[in-house]
Amino acid sequence: MEFYEAVDKRRTIRDFVSEEIPQAVVERIIAAAMKAPTNDHMRDWHFIVIRDKETVAKLLDIIPKGISDEDMEQLLKDWNLNDSEQQSAYRNAVPKQHKMLMDASVVVIPLLKQKTDILHPESISHLNGFASIWCSIENLFLAATAEGYGCNLRIPLGIEDKYAKKVLGFPNEYFMPCFIGIGKPQENAPAIKQKDIDVKERIHLNKW
Ligand SMILES: Cc1cc2nc3c(=O)[nH]c(=O)nc-3n(C[C@H](O)[C@H](O)[C@H](O)COP(=O)(O)O)c2cc1C
Repeated sequence: MEFYEAVDKRRTIRDFVSEEIPQAVVERIIAAAMKAPTNDHMRDWHFIVIRDKETVAKLLDIIPKGISDEDMEQLLKDWNLNDSEQQSAYRNAVPKQHKMLMDASVVVIPLLKQKTDILHPESISHLNGFASIWCSIENLFLAATAEGYGCNLRIPLGIEDKYAKKVLGFPNEYFMPCFIGIGKPQENAPAIKQKDIDVKERIHLNKW
């Protein structure tokens, strides 16, 4: 797939058919992730690839399986989500947080080595490792798209990351930025409309 086509086709997919992804494909996708730019040249990243459904179920046990209409409306208010397209995106995404990972063919947990307290950085450079792994996550998404698969991600809330560490047994010095689900998209899988943005209005030549 041509690069710009992969960029256009990469959409967050939360509805999958039940289909295995060959391990060779997973390895190519993660090899692409490993090619991303890295702050300290070390690429000290690991990727836990979970296929075993029992382990996935245990890992996701802590994630709510749905949300009532009332709680959804409250969440939109609490998080000040006022844009109607943004609201549609959240109305689609929030109820699927558990299912989109449970139904994925593989759940991938990216890990970075974090030497300083990521939640209390002393300077922006203390977030370099975190920024780098997000570069690798985008490579992973684009590679999965080019391979004909779809991806989603969830940011761990509350103690979900600590719980994942317990379930998956990764070392203390490694930090988990997100859960990733990869799978074959359902034929009618909705991709929520992206905001229409006029790129020319966002480019500031020489000065803002
Ligand atoms: C930093 C970051 C955090 C996100 N957190 C979540 C999340 O917790 N759950 C979820 O379902 N999607 C999450 N997403 C996906 C966004 O909802 C999605 O990228 C956005 O709606 C745009 O849609 P698109 O990816 O199809 O272009 C996140 C994306 C990013 C980049």
